[in-house]
Amino acid sequence: MIELHDISELTRAAEILRAGGLVAFPTETVYGLGAHARDAAAVRRIFAAKGRPATNPVIVHLADTSLVSAVAEELPDVGQMLAERFWPGPLTLVLRRRDDLPTEVTAGGPTVAVRVPAHPVARALLLRAGVPVAAPSANRSTEVSPTTADHVRRSLGDRVDMIIDGGPCPGGIESTVLDVTTSRPRLLRPGLVSRAEIEAVIGPIDVGSAPGEQVARSPGQMDRHYAPRANLELADGTGADRVESLARGGHRVGWLTWADAEEVAGALRIGVPHDERAFAARLYAALHEFDEAGCERIVVAVPPSEWTAIHDRLRRAATRT
Ligand code: TXA
Ligand code: MG
Repeated sequence: MIELHDISELTRAAEILRAGGLVAFPTETVYGLGAHARDAAAVRRIFAAKGRPATNPVIVHLADTSLVSAVAEELPDVGQMLAERFWPGPLTLVLRRRDDLPTEVTAGGPTVAVRVPAHPVARALLLRAGVPVAAPSANRSTEVSPTTADHVRRSLGDRVDMIIDGGPCPGGIESTVLDVTTSRPRLLRPGLVSRAEIEAVIGPIDVGSAPGEQVARSPGQMDRHYAPRANLELADGTGADRVESLARGGHRVGWLTWADAEEVAGALRIGVPHDERAFAARLYAALHEFDEAGCERIVVAVPPSEWTAIHDRLRRAATRT
């Protein structure tokens, strides 16, 4: 629900975007750092604010499926079917780019990633802006993605012209990225729309990067990504044994576990229900909380192996380089 006093804020945000400024805004997945996608200088400001390598392309956000032609050559039939089923929503489609799109958006590649977000504030902003909006997650590169306006403020502060506070993001992890430019679509990043849901619409897809392909194309494939400051590890069961031994060793431990797990002295425990969506919604927020509390170690109760998007993010959060 968008309230009346927010309308003038949205109008101002839309003006900032059209003028080449940076606006952080909520989506149903995580907060995005938006800039006018057809304004090369504006898009470069995103990369500067995040400290993002220029080799990593950004997702273009649209108010409606009909606007795909503003940035992409075409929406192939499989893309059309998926758009009908999942847009607005947390699915990003990789399409052939239009030649006149700034190369900054696509990191010089032949394709562009596009999605129509479902969050009412994002939709209202995109409608008012009237331009395609390039938006990666609104965090410094390699940090955990933001799921509240406060996370954005702490990570980017005055590097952005405006932050729209739309409360916590309901989804909590990033969109699914699917390349539909190949004869058989390829899942580049697991996310809130599952492989099974996609295959129910268009049949079998491939998963992961193609052999010999440039890795930097999806930071889903960059190792240290989505990482908290503290060392993160997975533990069996509730993780209580591991947490106890770390706490006994004098470590300040952040512990993400199941709601029914008992407290352990010396640990900051966040309990979540045994539910994939609830876990995703809480995951990044928990990692932010542990960082803020100065935890030196993080222990996460290992989720079921079928929760692939969550495992993908946990694996990256745990990677030390
Ligand atoms: O949920 C989301 O997708 C959020 C919200 C703000 O929409 N955005 C997000 O953006 O997570 P970012 O930049 O943090 O991640 C974008 C992902 C990266 O894995 C990037 O490599 C990939 O999409 N990507 C972008 N353009 C691409 C392209 N042309 N081909 C392949 N992958 C692309
Ligand atoms: Mg990101």
